[in-house]
Amino acid sequence: MNGKYVKAALDTGFDLPVYKTVRTHAYKSHPWPNVLPVHVEGDLPAGGVKLTAGEEYTQPLSITNSFGVPSMPPDVWQPDLADCVRYAKPGQLVIGSYQGTLPERGGGVTEYIEDFRRGARLMLETGVKAVEVNFSCPNEGTANLLCFDTERSRVVVEAIREELGATPLLIKVAYFKDDTKLRELIRNIGPYVSAISSINTISAEVRKADGEQALPGEGRLMSGVCGASIRWAGLEMVQKLARLRDELGLSYEICGVGGVTVAEDYAAYRAAGADAVMSATGAMWNPALAEEIWNENEEARA
Ligand SMILES: Cc1cc2nc3c(=O)[nH]c(=O)nc-3n(C[C@H](O)[C@H](O)[C@H](O)COP(=O)(O)O)c2cc1C
Repeated sequence: MNGKYVKAALDTGFDLPVYKTVRTHAYKSHPWPNVLPVHVEGDLPAGGVKLTAGEEYTQPLSITNSFGVPSMPPDVWQPDLADCVRYAKPGQLVIGSYQGTLPERGGGVTEYIEDFRRGARLMLETGVKAVEVNFSCPNEGTANLLCFDTERSRVVVEAIREELGATPLLIKVAYFKDDTKLRELIRNIGPYVSAISSINTISAEVRKADGEQALPGEGRLMSGVCGASIRWAGLEMVQKLARLRDELGLSYEICGVGGVTVAEDYAAYRAAGADAVMSATGAMWNPALAEEIWNENEEARA
């Protein structure tokens, strides 16, 4: 993905496009295929599910995506992002997303946190007016999601906040089954952030019809599922984040994402307490989605 997609999104009425996740250095993609259809009956349960990858994309649409969060080097993505920032019209905001990379050879936590600091500095150099940091990347392995390590999350957010100064910071978090853990995370990071984006994909075991692993290569049996079947989880998280904001006396905004594939989903997210509503799978399959939302919602137009 690059700025051409962000500009196309801006042109078609998506007013808060996120230039998705880059890193502080070039990083290779997982091998092809990276997107497959999955057939889920109704809602995708949150843990330990086994799915079969299909051959056809059917509605209601759910897919698995597995790219490994590849990145161009900063000398490629920085000018590209800066160009998108300049392209946005009044009332539109391009958000730059990045994540830290686990050090390959030693260095440990200090180096990891330094990478988040460096990412923040690289973002600022582009002139971007809001930064999202991905604390929920499933490709590093579910057990290692940063947002589930609530203490480390606090330390990382503090470091990023120091670098960003007054620039608004959004943190992207995964679906939390455990309410106590979510509360702990929000208590730790809530005071430092302008907004929380939720959710990312939900991990499931994905095999082909013959039982073979659907996506080739180590660590890819478990793969992130997105689209219609995870909408329930996104809505639930928005409600929980709104409650926690009140309980903890915080003021962050909530970007609801997950399973927004038709215009009515926008209203459902707003009713659940989302200040902004986002879509990945739905927007990929229907570039007119934002326009349909504008047309069907008086409130969106206001
Ligand atoms: C092709 C594809 C690539 C994605 N890449 C990223 C990414 O780089 N960073 C990120 O935070 N989320 C990424 N996501 C996750 C989405 O932002 C979103 O959280 C998730 O897909 C749930 O929303 P959806 O049901 O509308 O797809 C990606 C999703 C898709 C479908």
